[in-house]
Amino acid sequence: MQEAHPPSRVASRLAPFGTTIFAEMTRLAAEHKAINLSQGFPDFDGPGFIKDAAVKAIRERHNQYAKPTGEPDLVEALAAWWGQETGRDLDPYAEITVTSGCTEALAASFLGLIEPGDEVILFEPFYDSYRACCALAGAKPRFVALRPPGPDAGPTAQFRFDEAELRAAFSPRTKAILINTPHNPTGKVFSRKELDLIASLCVEHDAIAITDEVYEHLVFEPDKAHIRIATLPGMAERTVTLSSLGKTFSLTGWKIGWAIAPPHLTAGVRSAHQFLTFAVATPLQHAAAEAIRNGADSIADLVAQLAGSRAFLADTLRDAGLRVYWPAGGYFIMADHSALGIGDDVEFCRYLTEEVKVAAIPPSSFYSRAELGRSLVRFAFCKKLSTLEEAARRLGALGSASRTGAAAR
Ligand SMILES: Cc1ncc(COP(=O)(O)O)c(C=O)c1O
Repeated sequence: MQEAHPPSRVASRLAPFGTTIFAEMTRLAAEHKAINLSQGFPDFDGPGFIKDAAVKAIRERHNQYAKPTGEPDLVEALAAWWGQETGRDLDPYAEITVTSGCTEALAASFLGLIEPGDEVILFEPFYDSYRACCALAGAKPRFVALRPPGPDAGPTAQFRFDEAELRAAFSPRTKAILINTPHNPTGKVFSRKELDLIASLCVEHDAIAITDEVYEHLVFEPDKAHIRIATLPGMAERTVTLSSLGKTFSLTGWKIGWAIAPPHLTAGVRSAHQFLTFAVATPLQHAAAEAIRNGADSIADLVAQLAGSRAFLADTLRDAGLRVYWPAGGYFIMADHSALGIGDDVEFCRYLTEEVKVAAIPPSSFYSRAELGRSLVRFAFCKKLSTLEEAARRLGALGSASRTGAAAR
């Protein structure tokens, strides 16, 4: 007889989050042998020269604890790169903290800078760890919706927020606003005008901007350059810029990330980081330094590849009867599935995975108001063309199945 497990003892502040939707969909994809376009990781490998650098670093005995705030090799490479990108010199030892991916950088920023009861503004849909970070820090999230472009907007129109809604979200308790550009899951690249508005509200309310820029290099539209809010007037002193190696170099498993912030904010990030992970994999930091110093060609190749994958998947989804919201950056396409008449986002994704054998993410879990995500579905295009071609073959059945009513449930 099987022994019953004792009831779950998950702490009440984390119990509502359950298992992440990514783990759940990846499990379901494996169970049904579905092509996994749900989780945002490439099914191709990162550049050889970076992997060789990691092997070399291991052989050269860079195998003990790293400097807790980051190996000099990496923080100096990051500082030089930041100088090229922004024209601003920073002190690599006082303004950069190396973390276990952007995920830890987010947690350390929240835990080290936010007081219980503080309010933090999140745009929704949001990357799921933001809300959990609020719960970890005891912060109260205030949500501002990014709404899809209407039917009359042009084909490359982006999700947008309402200025009045953003203004109303700021209050005397606002400690921070979290910006993610390029944005997961919508592919939105925040414009200069939007960032100027956010910056002016941060200054007016003395709020911090925590900005997640993990897709910073993956922008596909020449007229929508990635802008760092840290570079806007008055913002260097109140911005924590977070990023990581994973998406830029197709090395998501390495979990090398960083937080860049002026010393008074870095102090907060480090106060938490030292007790979360203390230090991050030493040899991978040396390889990351090599990537940052010499990775420009690899990044250009990846951007060209992903731009092609984006176009291919967008055509596939349109042919299958979905309305595609064209992403300007990142790894994902958001689409509206409602014309197919196959339930809400959760039912639709279950049907796709189990019957069509293509897994995608139901975005309602990225909203505080789940109804805003019910007609949407998120697909990852950071996959080999052969993977996307097989997904296209399978998705080909979708349009005709729903037209004949065979798929209706
Ligand atoms: C917006 C966003 N932020 C952070 C992360 C996590 O980054 P890392 O793997 O460096 O922890 C992801 C990963 O999908 C992401 O999409």
